[in-house]
Amino acid sequence: MEKEIKRKAGFHISPYLHSTFGEILGTLIYDGTWVGKDSPIPNVNGIRKDVIDGMKECGITAIRWPGGCAADHYHWKDGIGKERKRRLACSGQPNDFGTDEFMELCRLVGAEPILVANVATGTPEEFADWYEYCNGDADTKYGSLRAQNGHPKPYGVRFWGIGNTDENVWHMAFNDPKQYGQNFLRFRTAIMHALKDVQLIGLGLSERHETYGWVENFLEYVTHGKRWKGPDYLSVHHYIGAAKGRYEACGDAVEYSDEAYYFTLDSIKAYQADIDLHRIYIAQHTSDQYPTKICFDEWGLWHLDATDETGLRQRQTMRDALFAGLSLHVFYRNSDIVEFAMETQYANVLQSLFETDGEVFVKTPTFYAMKLLKEHLGNDLCDISFGIEDPMLDICTSISPEGKKVVISVINKSLTEDKVIAVPECLSGYDIISAEEIAPVCVRMENTAEHPEQIHIENVNNLEPGWLKAKKHSMVRYCLEKGEKE
Ligand code: AHR
Repeated sequence: MEKEIKRKAGFHISPYLHSTFGEILGTLIYDGTWVGKDSPIPNVNGIRKDVIDGMKECGITAIRWPGGCAADHYHWKDGIGKERKRRLACSGQPNDFGTDEFMELCRLVGAEPILVANVATGTPEEFADWYEYCNGDADTKYGSLRAQNGHPKPYGVRFWGIGNTDENVWHMAFNDPKQYGQNFLRFRTAIMHALKDVQLIGLGLSERHETYGWVENFLEYVTHGKRWKGPDYLSVHHYIGAAKGRYEACGDAVEYSDEAYYFTLDSIKAYQADIDLHRIYIAQHTSDQYPTKICFDEWGLWHLDATDETGLRQRQTMRDALFAGLSLHVFYRNSDIVEFAMETQYANVLQSLFETDGEVFVKTPTFYAMKLLKEHLGNDLCDISFGIEDPMLDICTSISPEGKKVVISVINKSLTEDKVIAVPECLSGYDIISAEEIAPVCVRMENTAEHPEQIHIENVNNLEPGWLKAKKHSMVRYCLEKGEKE
């Protein structure tokens, strides 16, 4: 075993791995985000205060908007200024929450905005106008419009998605990758004089991999045999859960069998496979001179109860928290290439962080998983062996840049056994100073309006020097600090 703790060179855990996605869909915006300034629900400039505070609490660093699929029919000019009407053929939802309100949400949370351009039914010109509205000085055509709308200072939006990676057939399977490559170049050319200030996210694969060859052909078209710059990021989407064909064995959101529980957590290996695949695409078709990274911009469980009728709302239990924790571990372990990961979506839709309904506000198991693990953000990944081969355990270790603090998170998937793990010798110079865990007595517990805290974070008492403990179906995060003797 190693005598000293080693950081993995080049594996810096980007704070953007705790990003989220908020789409004009279901009740995510109305009322999961926007309640208006006159609402009795506590708000800051019309945005729910509980949602703002909750996002800060679990370490959200970037928010993607307006879609997803919604980006494919969103026309940003409908959502600015005083006169805003609903557009039937788009989402049909109100336009009260538009670009300026989204920027306000990001400002209040302290998160980076990520805007997704409408490539499917929009034009490069519309995109360039949006870019100028967000980033132009007040003497430009659209920058002055923004100033007239009360926002004289440019927002400085750096990250732009060029279209939406989608598993819906209208997008990838029916679209020629070269055609998308052309679109990518047309949209890029539309903001050509601003490219030094922006990072563009191009399409990678979603979970329906019938589209083999798609990403390679797109990249090849754009880079011409590694000669030209490709996208700064490739977007990857992947949902797991019974609503998604080949994951039927995940079962119900709450009444799942033990087999379904293990199948679900085991399916996370697909995320590693996605990353490995995109690593190959990037290595084969882009040049080191213009590095392309991965933006895993939709991840999560999609249960059977999330249907159009429910506005994609679903229930969550401790299984969802463990799924979130294991997914984040995968992203941390690939932090040399995965720079963004967006849990999907932040309120009321799919594997949400919050469930809202008027005055009701509930933090989900996924919220607590993200909160527990946020201590890893900004650290460097460590290469540590705990000397055990236990498929039920998933352990991730990171160290702060100056080396004073070490964070260890342990996920115990076992439904029956508590685990005890010896702290390896390379950490003998560090003392365990605190630990927190999510360890409900029953794995199928959920947080509801009536019982909002069945799944929550608790301090671990009676810490034992040299030992880490993880109860059955739990996750625990230890913080260690360099001791005096060093
Ligand atoms: O997150 C819901 C939808 O799932 C998104 O709009 C789309 O990108 C994905 O298919």
